[in-house]
Amino acid sequence: MPNYESFKKDIDKLIGINLDYYKETQMKRRINSLMTREGYKDYDSYYSAMSKDKEALARFINHLTINVSEFYRNPNQWKVLEQKVMDHLKENNRGSLNIWSSACSTGEEPYSMVMMLSEFYPLDKIKILATDIDMGAIAKAKAGIYVEKSLENLPDKFIKKFFKEENGVYKISDEIKKRVEFKKIDLLKDNFPGNMDLISCRNVMIYFTDDAKAKLYEKFNRALTSYGIFFVGSTEQIIMPERFKFKTFETFFYQKMI
Ligand SMILES: C[S@@+](CC[C@H](N)C(=O)[O-])C[C@H]1O[C@@H](n2cnc3c(N)ncnc32)[C@H](O)[C@@H]1O
Repeated sequence: MPNYESFKKDIDKLIGINLDYYKETQMKRRINSLMTREGYKDYDSYYSAMSKDKEALARFINHLTINVSEFYRNPNQWKVLEQKVMDHLKENNRGSLNIWSSACSTGEEPYSMVMMLSEFYPLDKIKILATDIDMGAIAKAKAGIYVEKSLENLPDKFIKKFFKEENGVYKISDEIKKRVEFKKIDLLKDNFPGNMDLISCRNVMIYFTDDAKAKLYEKFNRALTSYGIFFVGSTEQIIMPERFKFKTFETFFYQKMI
């Protein structure tokens, strides 16, 4: 299909998402399927409709950003986090930890972190930075309302302690919500915060090109403290992490090399 190149440029101008950094075949397939479903035959007419219709644009962003998440996603990795990574971080940092959940989507990941950390620290000592490119996802995260399915892997003790169930819908408690600061950060464009003890970047790098990934690994490395840990998704192991000054701490966890 022609005009994808100019479509990418128009989208970047309209919403600031640069599709050049996303794997092309995969992204095009997703865009084409939505475009057809919405009844447009080419990128020009689809773009022109989106530039006038905010709801069509919101559907596009929603489809593009793939917000699927859940609490304690890949529970075995959370066990490693709770048992081994926390030991390492507490040994190296006797004060309060700086933690960043990047690409936090609708909040399941940063809220899981607060609950896990509540086993080690009083809640008022916990603060997590959670960021995403998609303000719609952030709005849902701030609302903190979830379906039962997304809680499947979360330990029962946390569900009992930190959620209120009403008609099958689960509302997260304010004491957990208050511990997370949500912000918009585009990983591919924006500056990163620094001095982080732990950064998670899970289930988003799979959509990026190898070039974009390499740049990101370097940026994440610089954003960590000297002993900091980088936590990735279950299909996102780093090949030859030494290239990016990381060494394997445990599978799916990398420690900054100094
Ligand atoms: C599948 S979700 C991952 C959520 C969570 N980390 C997890 O593993 O369950 C991917 C998230 O990446 C976000 N995303 C996509 N491109 C991004 C970018 N360039 N910068 C920041 N976030 C981005 C999407 O908006 C989406 O919320």
